[in-house]
Amino acid sequence: MASSKSHSTPPLPFLFVCLTLFLLCSVFDRVASQSHNPRLGTAVVAAEVAGDGIVDNSTLLLAEDRTRRKDPLDGYKKYGGGWNISNEHYWASVGYTAAPLFVVAAAWFVIFGLTLFLSCCYYCCCSQRRYGYSRAAYALSLILLTFFTISAIVGCVVLYTGQGKFHGSTTDTLKYVVSQANLTAENLHNVSDSLAAAKKTGVDNVFLPSELQTKIDQIETKINDSSVTLASRTDKNSHQIQNVLDDARLALIIIAAVMLGLAFLGFIFSILGMQFLVYILVVIGWILVTGTFILCGVFLLLHNVVGDTCVAMDEWVLNPTAHTALDDILPCVDGATANETLLRTKEVTYQLTDVVNQVLTNVSNVNFSPNFRPLYYNQSGPLVPVLCNPFHSDLSDRACSPGEADLSNATQVWRNYVCQVSSPSGICTTVGRLTPDMFSQMSAAVSLSYGLYRYGPFLVQLQDCTFVRDTFREISHNYCPGLRRYSKYTYAGLVMVSAAVGLSLIFWVIYARERRHRVYTKRFDEATGPGYAAEYKG
Ligand SMILES: *[C@@H]1O[C@H](CO)[C@@H](O)[C@H](O)[C@H]1NC(C)=O
Ligand SMILES: *[C@@H]1O[C@H](CO)[C@@H](O)[C@H](O)[C@H]1NC(C)=O
Ligand SMILES: *[C@@H]1O[C@H](CO)[C@@H](O)[C@H](O)[C@H]1NC(C)=O
Ligand SMILES: *[C@@H]1O[C@H](CO)[C@@H](O)[C@H](O)[C@H]1NC(C)=O
Ligand SMILES: *[C@@H]1O[C@H](CO)[C@@H](O)[C@H](O)[C@H]1NC(C)=O
Ligand SMILES: *[C@@H]1O[C@H](CO)[C@@H](O)[C@H](O)[C@H]1NC(C)=O
Ligand SMILES: *[C@@H]1O[C@H](CO)[C@@H](O)[C@H](O)[C@H]1NC(C)=O
Ligand SMILES: *[C@@H]1O[C@H](CO)[C@@H](O)[C@H](O)[C@H]1NC(C)=O
Ligand SMILES: *[C@@H]1O[C@H](CO)[C@@H](O)[C@H](O)[C@H]1NC(C)=O
Repeated sequence: MASSKSHSTPPLPFLFVCLTLFLLCSVFDRVASQSHNPRLGTAVVAAEVAGDGIVDNSTLLLAEDRTRRKDPLDGYKKYGGGWNISNEHYWASVGYTAAPLFVVAAAWFVIFGLTLFLSCCYYCCCSQRRYGYSRAAYALSLILLTFFTISAIVGCVVLYTGQGKFHGSTTDTLKYVVSQANLTAENLHNVSDSLAAAKKTGVDNVFLPSELQTKIDQIETKINDSSVTLASRTDKNSHQIQNVLDDARLALIIIAAVMLGLAFLGFIFSILGMQFLVYILVVIGWILVTGTFILCGVFLLLHNVVGDTCVAMDEWVLNPTAHTALDDILPCVDGATANETLLRTKEVTYQLTDVVNQVLTNVSNVNFSPNFRPLYYNQSGPLVPVLCNPFHSDLSDRACSPGEADLSNATQVWRNYVCQVSSPSGICTTVGRLTPDMFSQMSAAVSLSYGLYRYGPFLVQLQDCTFVRDTFREISHNYCPGLRRYSKYTYAGLVMVSAAVGLSLIFWVIYARERRHRVYTKRFDEATGPGYAAEYKG
């Protein structure tokens, strides 16, 4: 029969298939070569720092191995600056990794567009009658059409599940970061509250000299401002980021759904031989596939930046003393300074508590005779419990003795020991050992003391970035693997969908054509008898 001369299928689409496959291969090659193990570099750096004990005074480049990519801004030399988001060369070199996909998108757009245009011309102007039918070509195109349609469907499923998981892991990460920011803001707010309470003292400042008052005032304003700013920024940014994530998810779901529908409809129309509809879908698909290839590039870029950031966080956590690109963002003080700060807060707590206790033991809890003014103010009744000092005089931790009032609630405890005073003399007229004035000043001292005791360590952790390091460690260990994996899934799904739908488009056309020829040949065979068609075609 008419099986011998089968080279009548237009060569352009096949050429295009080859080109696409070649480009895709080169993309995967590039991607694969980027995923060298970055941990090794980290381990080596860590071992060097720990092993030799040399204080590294140069700048540590974060994720240096991973980020060694060609930099188009620097004559395609390898970029060597490590993870540094304030460096345009970093962005250029990361962006360059996605370039192949943008090239594929452009190539697809131009070449497929041209092919489409040329085949249009071919069908419209030239030989409407030059039909060739080959059973092998027909079968092959049907098989490939089915194969690519199934691939497209699988790609859509991968894309759908991948984006779902990616959205989940980004949302979880965001939640974690927000909760850490919330915790910080809340702590700062509490510190500022306790400083504000320390400010509210009576007329004469026995415990807090006035210059200290002014300092506390300034610090309190600063801390309160930081707390308010942090809280509002966190709120605003997290909402914005969440919105972007939700939009991205919606967009990806729509893409997956549209591509699925396109692949399915194209397959059906093509099988049923609905030429016109197939051509409409081909034109729609041509543009959509260009878009998805561009999106692939964007996701590859995202995937690489996520990977770099995770490795950079890891290395930063492992090298607490090194100077890094993160120093611009996170100004951390060194451990010695932090220890010094912590000691200072302990010292102040200790001394304030000590002063309060001396007043309690030497004045309030002593029954003076009336001629010992001003120590005598008619104090009477049960003894006021002294404050529990959380530190010994050498600033080591101290456990409370029974009967001592806890720093956290001493104010409530002491409220029961306040007497009423006659206004001019300031002498107690009722039972009690603390005048309201003394009470309010002691409360202020306790509030300050407690604030420093309770939140001092946290402030120091903020100061030396321990808090941030812990947060980063948590992110890098618990959230990064998911982020990396699912951004890769989404990327892979997009590539699959783009490639499979792109190839399907080509085979819709080829198959529809083969089918038409088959129908034509059959009809022709019926009219003229078998065996004649081949000769007729030429
Ligand atoms: C640190 O760097 C400075 C100049 O950048 C240099 O003078 C000094 O010797 C270096 N110290 C160490 C321990 O490498
Ligand atoms: C953070 O704080 C804001 C406002 O205070 C609150 O709406 C949000 O739920 C908190 N988020 C987390 C994760 O705790
Ligand atoms: C801040 O203070 C409030 C009320 O005193 C308390 O409920 C909360 O646990 C404190 N927050 C932190 C982080 O200590
Ligand atoms: C902190 O500042 C806000 C406004 O900036 C103010 O409403 C709030 O009372 C202040 N809190 C303290 C404890 O000073
Ligand atoms: C990061 O890039 C900026 C801008 O190019 C540069 O000033 C800075 O020194 C770089 N930081 C590191 C650690 O390389
Ligand atoms: C800070 O103090 C802790 C104990 O309080 C000690 O283990 C640590 O080595 C000190 N760090 C520095 C840098 O002095
Ligand atoms: C209070 O009494 C103790 C002994 O009980 C004494 O060491 C201390 O100096 C006295 N403090 C004042 C302020 O009088
Ligand atoms: C104060 O706190 C201590 C322990 O934290 C508790 O035993 C005591 O009952 C509290 N007192 C008041 C009046 O809340
Ligand atoms: C001293 O306090 C007692 C109550 O403990 C009261 O009865 C007495 O009137 C007070 N003396 C003066 C001079 O106010």
